[in-house]
Amino acid sequence: MSGSRNNICLIGYMGSGKSTVGKVLAERFGMTFEDTDEIIVKSQGRSIPEIFREEGEPYFRELEHGLVQSLAKDEQLKDTVLSTGGGIIINEDNRKLLKRIGCVVYLRACAQSLYERVKGDEGRPLLNTEDVYGRIEEMLKQRSPMYEEAADHIIDTDGLSVDETVMAVAAAAAAGPEVLGS
Ligand code: S3P
Repeated sequence: MSGSRNNICLIGYMGSGKSTVGKVLAERFGMTFEDTDEIIVKSQGRSIPEIFREEGEPYFRELEHGLVQSLAKDEQLKDTVLSTGGGIIINEDNRKLLKRIGCVVYLRACAQSLYERVKGDEGRPLLNTEDVYGRIEEMLKQRSPMYEEAADHIIDTDGLSVDETVMAVAAAAAAGPEVLGS
């Protein structure tokens, strides 16, 4: 695993498998699992849809940014798989700060497989729309360059099982951040 703190940050669009893969990865390699959405929900005492509804998206983005800043400074955060909210990379600072936390791995997937995984899920306020597939395509177009910029490694997860993805993330993280594009 790369970096002195041995952390892995998983980024990717909603439904890309960050939490599922992150939990299995952490368990298999004796690491701790953390999730930025879970940390925010716990500290706020309300769900993500409630935060969006009661305070709006900009407020949630501020919480998310504050959390990334504090995690980047937290030297106690070690041997941890950090699953992140799909929009964490919208903030330019976050794209840099995540790399300070650990090796950043982007779980990339196509719109169709993301759609299959998120359809019918009411916990994601940004997908609360008639045309979920269209929304995914549109957001992916905007966000893909940001995920790519934030990433040390990109894993194409379409067609991979959870186990295969876990092993691909572990191999990428073991190789260190410098491998991407070489
Ligand atoms: C969001 C993704 C969600 C959550 C919030 C906003 C996004 O996390 O942070 O609903 O902007 O993509 P998951 O990616 O874990 O679903």
